[in-house]
Amino acid sequence: MAGNHVDVFDTTLRDGEQSPGVRLNMPQKLEIAHALQKIGVNIIEAGFPVSSPGDFESVNTLAREIKGVTICGLTRAVQKDIEVAAEALKPAERRRIHTGLGVSENHLQHKLKLTREQALERGVNAVKLARQYTDDIEYFMEDSGRADKEYVYQVVEAVIAAGTTVVNVPDTTGYTFPTEYHDLIKGIIDNVPNSDKAVFSCHCHNDLGMATANTLAGVVGGARQVEVTVNGIGERAGNTSLEEVVVALRIREDFFGQTTTVKTEDLLNLSQLVAQHTGMIVQRNKAVVGANAYAHSSGIHQDGVLKERSTYEIIDPHLVGAARSEIILTARSGRHGLKHRLMQLGYDFPADRFEDIYNQFLSVADTKTEVRDDDLQELVKS
Ligand code: KIV
Ligand code: ZN
Repeated sequence: MAGNHVDVFDTTLRDGEQSPGVRLNMPQKLEIAHALQKIGVNIIEAGFPVSSPGDFESVNTLAREIKGVTICGLTRAVQKDIEVAAEALKPAERRRIHTGLGVSENHLQHKLKLTREQALERGVNAVKLARQYTDDIEYFMEDSGRADKEYVYQVVEAVIAAGTTVVNVPDTTGYTFPTEYHDLIKGIIDNVPNSDKAVFSCHCHNDLGMATANTLAGVVGGARQVEVTVNGIGERAGNTSLEEVVVALRIREDFFGQTTTVKTEDLLNLSQLVAQHTGMIVQRNKAVVGANAYAHSSGIHQDGVLKERSTYEIIDPHLVGAARSEIILTARSGRHGLKHRLMQLGYDFPADRFEDIYNQFLSVADTKTEVRDDDLQELVKS
């Protein structure tokens, strides 16, 4: 099923909301879901309906209100979960049931207390039941990153035969690194006889800081769906970040040869909306949407960017909806950066006066983290 389009499955409202300290109310969820639909994600995972009446209500409301995108509900491989999810998803224009269970020895022994065979049978039965409500079934193999590959192949073959259309290969614990995750996805596609009947999905956690790299490696390995959250929020160290994956696929289309339907120009707004509603502030140096992502403070970099932006910027800030690249004046800034900012403020001094201002600027800059416009106004008056 590998083509040149990658589906974006957003789980901000499910895995993202599992971030410690985050609780979204219904109006906030609706606003985020509308923004996700507008930006062009393909699937919204709206929640885990059986987990609480509130979650049922969220999934049901989004299923009713949000059109033009698939709405997905998470379930365990348990009859009641699937029936409740099916009920919550009823009003959706397009609905997906996301069911599954663990595949690693660790999860089988310690959490599920099932043999491999019992777990496989439970998974297959869950898929068959879910198929009675929708023909769009995603099966997750929790903790695939630490599982025995031969068992994973066996599970994939059986759940596809039972009616799964998307197979999710979660690195639940963020354990793998990119070459391993690539090989896991590619190994499944190459070794499972009916793998051409399903789409494979990357779902990575960021415990070792590799969620985005692993997801992209999975795409190279043949996955055609990526599971992401806005700003990378999620359990523990979070999930793969939507904006990083989408922009990486866009900027390096030459390498990946893949497109998504996400309108990147709205990414910054979406990131700020989610930060505001979740209270999870985006770190300044966060890739793609951080406040410093398009800011240059050293003289060498400022000189380069002012001559030609691409010297130090691979992403045009307009691509994500940021106004412009920023020249931040600090003690490491040079004459070119200072001259540029003075000109933006309407000043153009002769060389000797400028040199004088530059020296004063350096003295001020040594006492501050950033020299701002009001500091410059003071400087030019002195
Ligand atoms: O990380 C994980 O394994 C999950 C599954 C429930 C899909 O979030
Ligand atoms: Zn997860």
